[in-house]
Amino acid sequence: MRIMVTGGCGFIGSNFLYMLLADKPDVFVCNLDCLTYAGNPANAEDAARRFAGRYVFERADIADAPAVERIMEEHRIDAVVNFAAETHVDRSIADASPFLRANIAGLHVLLQAARRRGLTAFVHVSTDEVYGSLGPLDPAFTEASLLAPNSPYSASKASADLLCRAWHETYGFPVIVTRCSNNYGPRQFPEKLIPFMYLRACSDQPLPLYGDGGNVRDWIHVLDHCRGIWLALTGGRPGAVYNFGGGAERSNLDVVRRILDFCGRPESLIRFVADRPGHDFRYAMDYSLARRELGFTPSFSFERGLEETLGWYRDNAPWVAGVTSGAYRSFVDSWYGGRL
Ligand code: NAD
Ligand code: TYD
Repeated sequence: MRIMVTGGCGFIGSNFLYMLLADKPDVFVCNLDCLTYAGNPANAEDAARRFAGRYVFERADIADAPAVERIMEEHRIDAVVNFAAETHVDRSIADASPFLRANIAGLHVLLQAARRRGLTAFVHVSTDEVYGSLGPLDPAFTEASLLAPNSPYSASKASADLLCRAWHETYGFPVIVTRCSNNYGPRQFPEKLIPFMYLRACSDQPLPLYGDGGNVRDWIHVLDHCRGIWLALTGGRPGAVYNFGGGAERSNLDVVRRILDFCGRPESLIRFVADRPGHDFRYAMDYSLARRELGFTPSFSFERGLEETLGWYRDNAPWVAGVTSGAYRSFVDSWYGGRL
């Protein structure tokens, strides 16, 4: 299989492409990424050397139709997994426009290019956030739950999911949508909760928890998510939507306490700050459809996975140094400046 992995220099995309290259000797990967602030060439740095002849990097924007078509043609692509997106909720609140362009217009270009080529395998990677927010006692989201996105980010992802639905219903295009809960693991850009709090705690900086820290996320290790995507790509039903979750609901306060414990820092670093506007209270995923149809079950325990993940950030100081200047610093200063 010759797979175009878009967003392969980001967090999940890079984990996915290394998993494929290491475990699936018949797979060729074309990593198409335009390298936004979150796209880091170091994330896929040694893929070309370690997997010579089976990996190529193309710097391009998924919203650039001629480039996408040329690259698909040149590398004789027969499957697409779309990770490329703007992904940070807080940034989407500050400025939604890059989200609409990448997450909606970009996905449209990919769908059209793939349809024209007659591709029969296309997975669009989406999120639990399209379903909106759960109360403390609500049952977990199923694929039949209403789409009720609350942030500009989740609205852009829900829009893309609906385009996928339309391409299947209207053109019979065999796209599959996967919706996953919060990922953690190596190479996550440190604007997201776990690496953000860990790196700040290590340098004794205050930890800004929104509201009272009681919001709940369902955490899944990135490699469990990547396995689910592979199962969907190779065995999913065309037109289907599959939920993936980690079965590990934790409050933000609980996660931050574990991080403080790991790095031996006091709880006095925590600051309860003004809440994120539109902050979803709780996400939880019912992934029984993926278990039944794809054989998906998450394998990591959150506690073990979290320790390994924090250990990875501790042991990869050059990577951390490479992503915590420039765009990272200016966003943190402007976003948290008034809160802390
Ligand atoms: P990320 O922000 O770490 O990486 C995104 C990558 O996409 C970057 O390499 C960036 O350069 C690239 N990109 C952005 N816009 C592009 C464009 N127009 N053209 C080409 N490349 C572009 O994101 P991530 O956390 O790895 O998330 C990957 C996907 O998974 C996203 O679609 C996201 O919505 C989805 N998802 C993420 C999570 C999570 O917890 N991180 C959970 C569920 C779903
Ligand atoms: P985040 O990693 O941004 O993921 P998402 O919003 O997509 O779920 O945030 C995870 C949770 O952590 C979310 O409830 C918001 C909260 N959070 C804070 O309380 N403070 C922070 O500085 C950040 C980045 C997140």
